[in-house]
Amino acid sequence: MNAETAMNFGKNIISVRDMDRKTIEHILLTAKNIEEMPKNKRIELAKGYTVASLFFEPSTRTMLSFDTAAKNLGCSVIGFSGTESTSVKKGETLADTIRMASAYSDLIVMRHPLEGASRRAANVSAVPIINAGDGANQHPTQTLLDLYTILKSKGTLDNLTIALAGDLKYGRTVHSLAHALSFFNNNKLLFIAPKALEMPEDLIAELDGKIETKETTITEALKSADILYMTRIQKERFLDPQEYEQLRGTYVLTKDMLENAKKGLKVMHPLPRVDEISTEVDSTENAIYFTQAKNGVPTRMALIALLLGVMK
Ligand code: CP
Repeated sequence: MNAETAMNFGKNIISVRDMDRKTIEHILLTAKNIEEMPKNKRIELAKGYTVASLFFEPSTRTMLSFDTAAKNLGCSVIGFSGTESTSVKKGETLADTIRMASAYSDLIVMRHPLEGASRRAANVSAVPIINAGDGANQHPTQTLLDLYTILKSKGTLDNLTIALAGDLKYGRTVHSLAHALSFFNNNKLLFIAPKALEMPEDLIAELDGKIETKETTITEALKSADILYMTRIQKERFLDPQEYEQLRGTYVLTKDMLENAKKGLKVMHPLPRVDEISTEVDSTENAIYFTQAKNGVPTRMALIALLLGVMK
């Protein structure tokens, strides 16, 4: 990392807003280098380091891929998945939990249901914090693996039309991805969402002048999109279960719909999916969402290695 990139990278990974094009390109190149490295070499990279994995909210991919990434680098991993067996249940504050975890580890990976929780954790932690998702706010490491997947699939992060579909209001993955794509040249974002789940106005205002955006339908988007990024309508974000029931199943991508898609269209999804992508799509050439999830390992290895300072 050169001095300028290092300055923009910072000590923590909290939000895509803290990054820029150069920083992202450096992380993705590091991920590629790590992926190509022999296993017996990369396991030596961070031997003796400890990663704390604190998941206050459920996860499959992010937790398991960070766990795998840390162990692939030779780190040991401590932590919890759910607070049931921790002192959070006795009323311990987030700040004190982080102080303790940072006393036992060299780096903390944290998922929390509250927006801004990672930033607050970083303010009291003695070691770097990686935001593994904070409420409806940001999911920066998901974005980096998304970009890594797009780069591998399309060979570029410029001049792309990317359609974001589903829950654009509470979807932290699409918030982070929209930001990141605005750092690159000549990309266009198509937004597909029911009225109640449209992209937040403040985020659209932030993107204004940085990237072209347009609201559209899934049928229209399929004609011009290079990437269709589907997301789940997230039951856990609704206070009113009836509202969720009215919105679930709004979009279901089927194999038939892909017949009219632009040649080379790739379908992505951060997963988990519920019913928004029919399983018959899985075996098409368009589907890359399981490869996308797999790319979480090299991308997160790169982030751990860079934050621990064992790679530059
Ligand atoms: N994409 C993602 O964050 O999945 P998990 O919730 O399973 O970690």
